[in-house]
Amino acid sequence: MSETGELAELAKRRGFFFPSNEAYGGTAGFYTYGPEGAALKRNVEDVWRDLFVRKLGNMELEAPTIMPEAVFEASGHLDGFDDMIIECSECGATHRADHLVEDAVPDIEDAEALGTEQVAGLVAEHGIECPSCGAALADDTVEEFNLMFGTNIGPGSGSPGYLRPETAQGIFVEFPRLKEYARNTLPFGVAQIGRAYRNEISPRRALVRVREFTQAELEHFIDPEHDEPPIERVEDVEIPLYSAKDQNDDEGTVENHTVGEALDTDIVESEWVAYYLGRSMEFYERIGLDMDRFRYRQHLAGERAHYAADCWDAETELGGNWIEVTGFAYRSDYDLSKHGEYSDEPFTIFRQYDEPKTVERAVVDPDMSYLGPEFGSQAGAIAEELESLAGRDRSAFDGDSVSVAVDGETYTVPVEKTGFGVEEQTESGEHITPHVVEPSFGVGRIVYSVLIHTHGTDTVDGETRSFLGLPAELAPTTVAVVPLMTKDGLDDRAREIADRLREEGFEVAYDDTGNIGRRYRRQDEVGTPYCVTIDYETQEDDTVTVRERDSTEQRRVEIEKLPSVIRELLEGATLSTSGSPTT
Ligand code: GAP
Repeated sequence: MSETGELAELAKRRGFFFPSNEAYGGTAGFYTYGPEGAALKRNVEDVWRDLFVRKLGNMELEAPTIMPEAVFEASGHLDGFDDMIIECSECGATHRADHLVEDAVPDIEDAEALGTEQVAGLVAEHGIECPSCGAALADDTVEEFNLMFGTNIGPGSGSPGYLRPETAQGIFVEFPRLKEYARNTLPFGVAQIGRAYRNEISPRRALVRVREFTQAELEHFIDPEHDEPPIERVEDVEIPLYSAKDQNDDEGTVENHTVGEALDTDIVESEWVAYYLGRSMEFYERIGLDMDRFRYRQHLAGERAHYAADCWDAETELGGNWIEVTGFAYRSDYDLSKHGEYSDEPFTIFRQYDEPKTVERAVVDPDMSYLGPEFGSQAGAIAEELESLAGRDRSAFDGDSVSVAVDGETYTVPVEKTGFGVEEQTESGEHITPHVVEPSFGVGRIVYSVLIHTHGTDTVDGETRSFLGLPAELAPTTVAVVPLMTKDGLDDRAREIADRLREEGFEVAYDDTGNIGRRYRRQDEVGTPYCVTIDYETQEDDTVTVRERDSTEQRRVEIEKLPSVIRELLEGATLSTSGSPTT
């Protein structure tokens, strides 16, 4: 069985994740995390929170998942958040046209960057068939399909809304308030872990392409002219880079560079993106990804999202395919400018000058005793337009008269009646639109990668064992307490010890079904790093056996010392190397 097939089977059998709503035939693109999976996902999120919120001193918020249509008009998602769809005229099945092309044409790795007509041409040229019924798709059209799930807010259809396709928008729209919480000072970061929804045309590969998923996103608001990342913190960190140049070169491969080298040689353009590529290595290593199956890949021309200036993806290799798990984008001022343009709020922040500046400003003071009788009800609007025009283009006032447009009508006013003049003013700063740097993590894809990368088999006592080598802080259960027998008071003693360990703050499972070997295997398979066995010796001398998942080594430990021994093990000691206070 393939690595991904084996994992899907294990995930279902052991309660990590499984297709949702199977009692009703299942719903493609939706997965439920079972008890083990929900705990693992929460632990991954906690590591992310520790590194990207707590350690970086950022804020975290929790916004609604449904947002009004106006938000997505501004963000560009209504117009541009599309994938290419092809519908089989024979059986009616729908497919992602670009994926069909990528699967059928070995030379094409990124058909998404091509237009619909080009993709339709390739479908015809390569005789691509419908994966569902085998009919030729050559005559079927390729169209854009918007991925957002629409709904109505409240009864009726007067207030359309959408389930957010990225958590980021919930942060951007609150910028005017968030900047106050940041005391109007750049740079500051705002994070959010939450659900996002995309009506994917062809959900596939288990948690990789689903219709509802969790993102962990950080939006870092910066002043592009003045703020620099603390690059010295990461300049010596090695990062595996697969640049656009290397992707276009037949001989090109992934190359390891330090963050400093990557910037000096312009492989990574943006210092901020490089900073986050470096910082994120700590996250991927800490959650146990196999770093030999990990790379940062630069977006090719044409692949970048509508908002992005410099873009890299973190990718993991799963079952022979490279999968994007995180997008790193320099979003420039795109999002805040758009929300500023479409809403009534200023999405800007005040940048204080080091020294106040004296500037010349063109001003007007219209003579309303002239404008009123002359233009009637339009006089006020004309005065406002004159003021705006003076700010934009003072040369318009060079002649004897000046013209402004109000409600599609042009009005001409003698310059002497506008009160036009140029004044010197002292200014202490200016309003700027911050730029945004965004690392955007797909939590489901990361959980899936961790499961695949840590899953292994070996031989223990002549038997094949399947295990998850999860880092202890990610394991759904830290300690499994197992009585040798369910008689002679061993089970009661084991329950007591399990309760005590829970009180001490450990994630504990109690397991008394099946023979002891099977129970160890069960715990190994869900990644439990330690088992504690209660046996007849326990009744005599108050000691238990601690068994380590990775080495399968065992040592006897006094019950009194058990919590501190486990704590030491969690801090990195091993049963064989630690001077743990065992018996
Ligand atoms: N705010 C930027 C943004 O949403 P993205 O590259 O579209 O960027 C970020 O998504 C991450 O979300 C991806 O790297 C991926 O891990 C995850 N993701 C995107 N679409 C997904 C899907 N349909 N199923 C599962 N995860 C997905």
